[in-house]
Amino acid sequence: MENRHIAFSPPDITEEEIAEVADTLRSGWITTGPKTKKFENEIAAFCHTSKAVCLNSATACAEMSLRVLGIGPGGDEVITSAYTYTASASVAVHVGATLVLVDTQPDSYEMDYEKLESAITEKTKAIIPVDLGGVICDYDKIYDIVEKKKSLFRPSTEIQKKMGRIAVVADGAHAFGATKNGKHSGEIADFTSFSFHAVKNLTTAEGGAAVWRDIDGIDNEEIYKQFMLLSLHGQSKDALAKTQLGAWEYDIIAPYYKCNMTDIMASLGLVQLRRYPSILARRKEIIEKYNEGLKDLDLSVLNHYGG
Ligand SMILES: Cc1ncc(COP(=O)(O)O)c(C=O)c1O
Repeated sequence: MENRHIAFSPPDITEEEIAEVADTLRSGWITTGPKTKKFENEIAAFCHTSKAVCLNSATACAEMSLRVLGIGPGGDEVITSAYTYTASASVAVHVGATLVLVDTQPDSYEMDYEKLESAITEKTKAIIPVDLGGVICDYDKIYDIVEKKKSLFRPSTEIQKKMGRIAVVADGAHAFGATKNGKHSGEIADFTSFSFHAVKNLTTAEGGAAVWRDIDGIDNEEIYKQFMLLSLHGQSKDALAKTQLGAWEYDIIAPYYKCNMTDIMASLGLVQLRRYPSILARRKEIIEKYNEGLKDLDLSVLNHYGG
C-alpha cells in the first residue's frame, strides 16, 4: 500500500483572508480596534448572545470568565472533566481555585454525572463541562444537578449572589458552531469559551471568544467592561479610545492581565465567519470519509452529531 502523508489539520486560508489581513496592515490600526469589535458583534449574533468578547485564546477567555465571576483563592473549588485538554483544568489553577477532576462515564467522553453530583461541596463555584470534538454535553442534566445542590452554594461576589448557584462555564474550545436541541453552543451554558487556534474549525491563528447568557440583575455592559479591564492591564481606556482627541488620559484600576485580540487576528476571523458554512461542509465531508474508511474495522468512532 502506498504511504501517504496526511497533514494534521492544515488551516483553510484563502485569498479572501489574505486580502482582509492586508487591508488591516495597510489601515494603520493593527492591534485591538474596529475589526475586533466587528468580529465580537458577529460572534454574538451567530451564537444568539447579547455580547461576545474576543481575546488571544480560549484559555484566556475561560480564565477571564472565572475572574469575572470572582472565583479565586480562599478555597473556591472548580470542577472539570478528567478527560480533556490541559487548559480546561489549568484555568482553575491560574485563578487560585482548587481543581476537582471528575472521571468520565464508561465508553463516553462526558463526565460521569453521578460522580459530578457527589463532587459538589459548599466550596464549589463553577463546573467546566468540556464539549469535546464539538459534541455538546448533557447540560439539562448538569443544570438539574446544580439546581439540586443550590442550598449548598455560598456566594462571595455580587454576580455569584445574582446567579444564586454554581456557574456552568463551558469549555467550548471545540464547539464553535455546534448545536443541540436547536440551540447554539454559547447560548446553553452560563459562560462559554471558544478556541480559534489554527487547527479549529474557524481560525484566527491563535485566538478565542467568550460569550455568556444574560444574568438577571447584572448589566451585560458591566460584564463586558470587566473583560476589557482584565484583558488589557486594567486600563480604564483601550488603545483606540485613547487616540480620540483630548482622551489620552487613563487610569490603571488594578494590575490585571494582557490577552487582547489584535485586528490582524480579527480580520482572519471575519472572513472565516463569512466562509463558515462552506468550511463546516468540508469538515463534514472529511468526517464522512473517515467514518466510511473505518466502518469495517472493529472501532467505534465519535458520533459528531450526537445531539
Ligand atoms: C478542550 C480544549 N480546551 C481548551 C483549549 C485551549 O484553547 P486555546 O489554545 O485557544 O487556548 C483547547 C486547545 O486546543 C482544547 O482542546
